[in-house]
Amino acid sequence: MIYGFIGLGNMASAILRGMVRSGRFPQGTLRGYNRTREKALALEKELGLVLCQSERETAEQADAVVLCVKPQMLDGVLEKIAPAVSADKLILTIAAGKETGWYEERLGPVPVIRVMPNINARVGKSVSAICAGPYARPEHLSVARDMFSTVGTVYDVEERLFSAFSAIGGASGAFVHLYIDALASAGVQAGIPRPLSQEIACRVVEGSALLTAQSPEHPIALMDQVCSPGGTTIEGVHTLKRLGFETAVQQAVRAVIEKDKKLK
Ligand SMILES: NC(=O)c1ccc[n+]([C@@H]2O[C@H](COP(=O)([O-])OP(=O)(O)OC[C@H]3O[C@@H](n4cnc5c(N)ncnc54)[C@H](OP(=O)(O)O)[C@@H]3O)[C@@H](O)[C@H]2O)c1
Repeated sequence: MIYGFIGLGNMASAILRGMVRSGRFPQGTLRGYNRTREKALALEKELGLVLCQSERETAEQADAVVLCVKPQMLDGVLEKIAPAVSADKLILTIAAGKETGWYEERLGPVPVIRVMPNINARVGKSVSAICAGPYARPEHLSVARDMFSTVGTVYDVEERLFSAFSAIGGASGAFVHLYIDALASAGVQAGIPRPLSQEIACRVVEGSALLTAQSPEHPIALMDQVCSPGGTTIEGVHTLKRLGFETAVQQAVRAVIEKDKKLK
């Protein structure tokens, strides 16, 4: 099977690196085109990506066309590839917001798989949601699972929940970075050098996530275990609650979902 990537930016590069690292995709099967040639040349050199000369040539050569451009660029890309797309080609898209029906309106009755990965794909830790349009078959979903399992964990998610997933599984990564920076910065204020403070903040987030994921207990039960009566941690927890920590996170998630719905 030939995979043709259109748009070779941050996400496509991470996915291609994962696919190559996995060793499951033979040389020559990964092809791509990028508007700016430099990015394509760099991936040719690094990964042995076979370069195409245009969006249309990529679609012509590929069995699976992987759309990795920004959502606002998609209309133009679909117009260019439409003559090369038929029901025997799989369209895989990672663009935020656009539903499978949106592609079918422009390309006709073709199999479309929508994927929502996240940038943690760069370290093999993406969570990726996948769903299928009405013309896609189970084997098309398998293609997406094989690809995206090389950069993390893949979940089958109903399309109606994609906006929620993109908030919880995508944008939330940015919230975590913000939290890590706030924590690291507070450590600096308390006298810990920035590199050490940041490393500690990262390790705590990593460790707490692992503990929560592996524990049968509710996260709040785990939190309670580190809040000794009259101790220090409960002071911090109360301060976060008083300042609206949970409400801020929940409102941020809702804001992402609302914005995502407007992209349709
Ligand atoms: N970043 C994330 O965390 C994330 C997570 C989930 C989903 N996504 C989705 O992934 C997609 C890509 O995001 P990204 O962060 O990888 O963006 P990006 O780094 O800006 O990559 C997009 C690439 O598309 C190229 N491009 C634009 N028009 C093109 C065309 N007509 N033909 C070929 N290449 C073209 C751009 O080329 P130039 O070099 O000329 O700019 C750029 O390299 C978006 O739809 C986004 O919604 C992103």
